[in-house]
Amino acid sequence: MRATISAILAALLLGQVNAAGVTGTAFGFASGTTGGGNAAAATPSSLAQLKEWITDDVARTIMIDREWDFTGTEGTTTGQCCSTRTTTCSGGTSKGQAWIQTSCDDGIWISCTYDNAAKSPLDVGSNKSIVGVGSKGVLKGKGLRVRGGNSNVIVQNIHITDLNPQYVWGGDAITLDGADKVWIDHNKFSLIGRQMIVSGWGKAGHVTISNNEFDGVTEWSAGCNGKHYWTLLLIGSEDYYTFAGNWLHDVSGRAPHMGTDYDASKIYFHGVNNYFQNIGGHSFDVDTNTWVLLEGNYFDSVTTPMTPNSLTKGGQLYTTSTVSAASGCTSKLGYICEWNRENGSGSWPDRTDSTVLSAFANYKQYLIGHTGVADVPANVTANAGVGKL
Ligand SMILES: *[C@@H]1O[C@H](CO)[C@@H](O)[C@H](O)[C@H]1NC(C)=O
Ligand SMILES: *[C@@H]1O[C@H](CO)[C@@H](O)[C@H](O)[C@H]1NC(C)=O
Ligand SMILES: *[C@@H]1O[C@H](CO)[C@@H](O)[C@H](O)[C@H]1NC(C)=O
Repeated sequence: MRATISAILAALLLGQVNAAGVTGTAFGFASGTTGGGNAAAATPSSLAQLKEWITDDVARTIMIDREWDFTGTEGTTTGQCCSTRTTTCSGGTSKGQAWIQTSCDDGIWISCTYDNAAKSPLDVGSNKSIVGVGSKGVLKGKGLRVRGGNSNVIVQNIHITDLNPQYVWGGDAITLDGADKVWIDHNKFSLIGRQMIVSGWGKAGHVTISNNEFDGVTEWSAGCNGKHYWTLLLIGSEDYYTFAGNWLHDVSGRAPHMGTDYDASKIYFHGVNNYFQNIGGHSFDVDTNTWVLLEGNYFDSVTTPMTPNSLTKGGQLYTTSTVSAASGCTSKLGYICEWNRENGSGSWPDRTDSTVLSAFANYKQYLIGHTGVADVPANVTANAGVGKL
């Protein structure tokens, strides 16, 4: 009784902040995403209820007011994992990651034990807002997946962590596979086995990934350098991303990777005002069937801001880094793009493929504005992640 009354009071209080428990409104490609809409904010009281509310067919605003710990809830598996040079890390500064997989052609089998819950994400139903309260909202040991045609999902202010970080294929934090209208805002990802965000092979649809912290600090790194390699893998069949105000730090690869040679795939990516910091490996790795417009991004101590492959595999890039290239946006997009900037980082390509501007000219209503690139480090570190709403 007491719990029920306090839950109702909490819902009412949160309802005053915003009708739907969500702060702000989806922008960019995910514009129009309303999640649970006007469904009253409600706080689950057990793990079973949390699972039911996330996965059922009812429009809901689900408040995460604590750490929900899934580790151990579905048992563990002890078996064999593949150890390769990414595991042995001779000369590295951290331990590596062994591979949970069924073949081991390029390594040796070692025994391993991993948590089962992290390997099967919760399938999020349509019309859901999943929102953390203050800095308390944590999903430990389980990720989220939107698939099978589900759509209209907001995930805001949640920390997803501890998905078998010792093992490649240990678990993905957020998966989009046959989705549409997803707003991933002000979350934090840390200690993930595999991808922090992954799409494919079904479409991700219209997605905005904003103000998130991708924290790659780990004891188990496939790059053997204490930095997580598997950051974002964007390879859906029809994906439109707005990627803005994110802080990617201490990662070492796929930050992000986008594109696949699967011919029918098309991926549009507008990256604005993101802060890439202390990346001991690569940030952008772009494959074909992609149209990529990057503006106002700041690369600080990034070994390889853009891989050489990105320039040769057919990806279409507009990577403004000069004033003249920035002005080049005006004729097709109607505004001057913001240039990208580097500090203590590897070289950045100045690619101005006009096909990118022509492609984005069809989606002008989804293009968001930018702030000055010089403010990005201070602004993004102050705003990105949980507890910052
Ligand atoms: C989600 O909301 C839309 C719009 O209200 C509705 O048409 C659709 O049926 C809902 N989906 C589910 C699974 O409730
Ligand atoms: C630029 O890089 C230097 C050396 O790596 C670092 O000390 C400084 O904080 C960086 N400045 C900014 C604004 O990122
Ligand atoms: C800093 O970020 C906030 C929130 O994203 C934005 O409203 C503001 O314009 C930014 N300020 C600067 C100076 O970039």
